Amino acid sequence: MKTIILNAGPRKNWNTDLMLKEAQKGAESAGAEIEYVDLYDLDFTGCRSCLACKLKGAERNKCYWKDDLSPLIEKILNADCVIIGSPIYLGEPTARFRALFERLCFCVLSYEGDPYFKGKVNVGLIYTMNAPREYYETTLQNVLGGIENSYRRFLNGQVETVAACATMQVDDYGRYSMGRFDPEERKQSREEKFPKDLAAAFELGARLSK
Ligand SMILES: Cc1cc2nc3c(=O)[nH]c(=O)nc-3n(C[C@H](O)[C@H](O)[C@H](O)COP(=O)(O)O)c2cc1C
Repeated sequence: MKTIILNAGPRKNWNTDLMLKEAQKGAESAGAEIEYVDLYDLDFTGCRSCLACKLKGAERNKCYWKDDLSPLIEKILNADCVIIGSPIYLGEPTARFRALFERLCFCVLSYEGDPYFKGKVNVGLIYTMNAPREYYETTLQNVLGGIENSYRRFLNGQVETVAACATMQVDDYGRYSMGRFDPEERKQSREEKFPKDLAAAFELGARLSK
């Protein structure tokens, strides 16, 4: 069992990274071999519409653009599970998350019928955000549901999402103009809710890597 874990957030050792590290431990507990990649350390863009993947006679399930992402896409399509974590930026996952999503799904999409990819890769999605859980459940979850559906359709595996809400965005709110947030409420969320989110990330990693 091979599980690839991708941090689509720019900060190491912060909320998204911590959630992913728990998912990693869960995957390891299920016996998976892990590769952990920080997407912000790689050099790539979203789909460049070169359409090389759609040429007649081209090998399918392959992104042809020459940058750091294409070899990673090949690894993902040969893995059993991929777990992708992203903070929510302006109501959506990050630009890096989106660039991967475009390239990975588009190169297996066929304009002639069913997707080219006939393998099966389980997908775990982990989001972290300032928003309270209520807003996530009533609003954001609908927006993010489209991503879940696409991964289910294109990679044929089980797709599950875990979200950490009301995260601590900074260590010391006193240093920043962030009056909208109550530091005490954030601290409480960190101490009481975040451990449960980490446990959910662990379980997701274990379940999808079985
Ligand atoms: C550019 C930017 C935009 C953000 N937009 C949102 C947003 O729309 N909704 C939200 O709930 N949180 C938003 N946040 C907060 C982050 O999603 C949240 O702090 C997240 O847990 C950060 O993850 P990290 O600690 O792994 O970096 C934003 C943060 C940044 C830097």
